[in-house]
Amino acid sequence: MTDRIEIRESGPSDAALIERLYPDAFPEENLSPLVRNLLSEAPIVLSLVGMADAALVGHAIFTTCGVAGSPDKVVLLGPLAVAPAWQRQGIGSAMVHAGLQRVETAGASQVYVLGDPAYYKRFGFEPDADVTPPYPLPEAWAGAWQSLSLGGNQSRPRGKLSVPQPWRQEALWAP
Ligand SMILES: CC(C)(COP(=O)(O)OP(=O)(O)OC[C@H]1O[C@@H](n2cnc3c(N)ncnc32)[C@H](O)[C@@H]1OP(=O)(O)O)[C@@H](O)C(=O)NCCC(=O)NCCS
Repeated sequence: MTDRIEIRESGPSDAALIERLYPDAFPEENLSPLVRNLLSEAPIVLSLVGMADAALVGHAIFTTCGVAGSPDKVVLLGPLAVAPAWQRQGIGSAMVHAGLQRVETAGASQVYVLGDPAYYKRFGFEPDADVTPPYPLPEAWAGAWQSLSLGGNQSRPRGKLSVPQPWRQEALWAP
């Protein structure tokens, strides 16, 4: 455990270390191409790194998306990764909180995530049936599609989430 945890936006010099993090955190998936492509979509992507004792040990991406027919600015959270040796020390949560704060300040009204509800419920995420992911999910994953309203947003959008190119791969949305 360390007191020296810092969350900051990534820069070009972090790219190699960010890519190296993913095979460790997700040994059964190859998320490197997705992450590399998202990092090149700078204006619509918020990329945060978690630093512990000045080492890069965590990464989170928030991608600006849209919902067809809605003027709302919405965001997709993911991927989110913490190096195994640094998991369960608050770094993932710190990155999520920092990202939610930033995207709310930037005017986002809703954040979506596909992930384990046991983890994401701590931030207030709840299963969302109003907005559907870009590709149909297997039934067993229905509860894994969640959202969080920001800034007291009352009007939840309805429709299909429209995602930028790097996310338009069906394999990313299937087991
Ligand atoms: C999931 C992950 C990002 C969480 O980051 P982290 O820094 O380890 O998490 P935090 O320290 O902020 O939070 C720890 C808490 O989350 C819980 N937790 C961690 N991973 C969890 C998971 N997959 N499911 C449910 N709970 C989880 C811990 O039990 C702990 O709970 P507690 O606070 O009640 O003790 C990290 O464990 C990771 O990279 N895992 C592998 C990759 C992965 O599955 N990422 C995708 C998330 S959809």
